Amino acid sequence: MEVIIKATYEDMSRAAAQEVARILNTKPNAVLGMATGSTPLGLYRELVRMHRDEGLDFSQVTTFNLDEYVGLRPSHPQSYHFFMHENFFKHVNVPKQNIYIPSGSTNNYPSFCAWYEQRIEECGGIDLQILGIGSDGHVAFNEPGSSLTSRTRLKTLARQTIEDNARFFERREDVPIYAITMGVGTILEARELLLCANGKNKAWAVAAAIEGPVTGMVTASALQMHPHAKVFLDSDAAGELKMRAYYDWIEERRPGAPRYN
Ligand code: GLP
Repeated sequence: MEVIIKATYEDMSRAAAQEVARILNTKPNAVLGMATGSTPLGLYRELVRMHRDEGLDFSQVTTFNLDEYVGLRPSHPQSYHFFMHENFFKHVNVPKQNIYIPSGSTNNYPSFCAWYEQRIEECGGIDLQILGIGSDGHVAFNEPGSSLTSRTRLKTLARQTIEDNARFFERREDVPIYAITMGVGTILEARELLLCANGKNKAWAVAAAIEGPVTGMVTASALQMHPHAKVFLDSDAAGELKMRAYYDWIEERRPGAPRYN
């Protein structure tokens, strides 16, 4: 796992956006895995800017979102459908028919989940999966106790997650209790992973994910099993890392490091 620590949220977001641009420059028809939450907002803003000012092209891109709340219509302002449209899709040129987001309102979850997995496979698999991290260490909605081989499925949200996400809803009772989410196994099949985290409230989860044991209790720790995982942090989120000095040293020495290609 590569750990890249930037001084600010903006720097972190710009560095993460460069990774997405690198993929698109080498593979214009890449399949991108998208994440929601407040963390990737800066990354999406930067990609929108690159599209507008630098011609970063999404016309051949396909996207698969990680998750969606159950019970919210796509037009609900807190649905992930709405979030993605407002913060990303309406500003770039991903073709509508190439956008996949789990349905929060299907009447047959098992068959929807199986179809979603099948679509990912038919599209050639995910080239780069963007990830955030929950304060309990979850990725997507893979709450503590999830299997590290899990696939797309329905999950009951943990109380901590409901608390964390209540800030986006008018009333706490409005926060959905169930979600449909890609599994940890699904996420691990992406060719590259890009996890972003910022803020002090993520410091524990980040340290547990990067330096703790690989465990279903912190599903982000599964990234340790992935050969191409990069973690972009701001300095607050890096606050509890024991090996911080080493990660900074690697970055410092990177310009002189031998290259593989
Ligand atoms: C939700 C999402 C996750 C996201 C997490 C953190 O649980 N399902 O994908 O990483 O929130 O959100 P935020 O970035 O707002 O802290």
